[in-house]
Amino acid sequence: MEYYVPIKHLHMLFAYLTALLFIVRLVLDAVGKPGWRQTPLRFIPHINDSLLLLFALTLWFIGPWQLFAHGWLGLKIVLLFGYIAAGMVALKQSKPKGMRIGFAVLALVLLAAIFHLATAKPLLFG
Ligand code: HEM
Repeated sequence: MEYYVPIKHLHMLFAYLTALLFIVRLVLDAVGKPGWRQTPLRFIPHINDSLLLLFALTLWFIGPWQLFAHGWLGLKIVLLFGYIAAGMVALKQSKPKGMRIGFAVLALVLLAAIFHLATAKPLLFG
């Protein structure tokens, strides 16, 4: 349990990097530089997200967290699936531009909601 706080800080670091890497890729596409797909930026976000999830699951298992008692955590995981799906569409080159912008906004709103749930840990569902 003495490892809990360092693991939480690693989880937070990878969470902020997730947001940064997503925004960087959106901006590169928006300014007409889709060539990042031929650079390490193609796979670095996947490594980052895997580490984010690894530390998230570790916190979940070694911490006092229960999905139903801590509704913010359950909702956070549901929103995470929405963020992943919306983010995939936003970065898909074959999709129409308007659709990609809409899904990029949706993904960013979901990501902001995930950060809010993580930091505020509101009491949900009673
Ligand atoms: C994009 C996905 C995620 C982001 C951006 C994110 C972000 C964060 C942040 C910023 C915190 C620190 C909150 C604070 O200041 O106290 C946190 C805490 C936490 N996260 Fe995540 N997280 C994500 C995914 C997950 C997932 C999938 C799980 C569970 C499987 C999870 C489990 C936890 C737990 C249990 C804490 C509480 C740590 C504590 O306060 O002691 N996170 N998350």
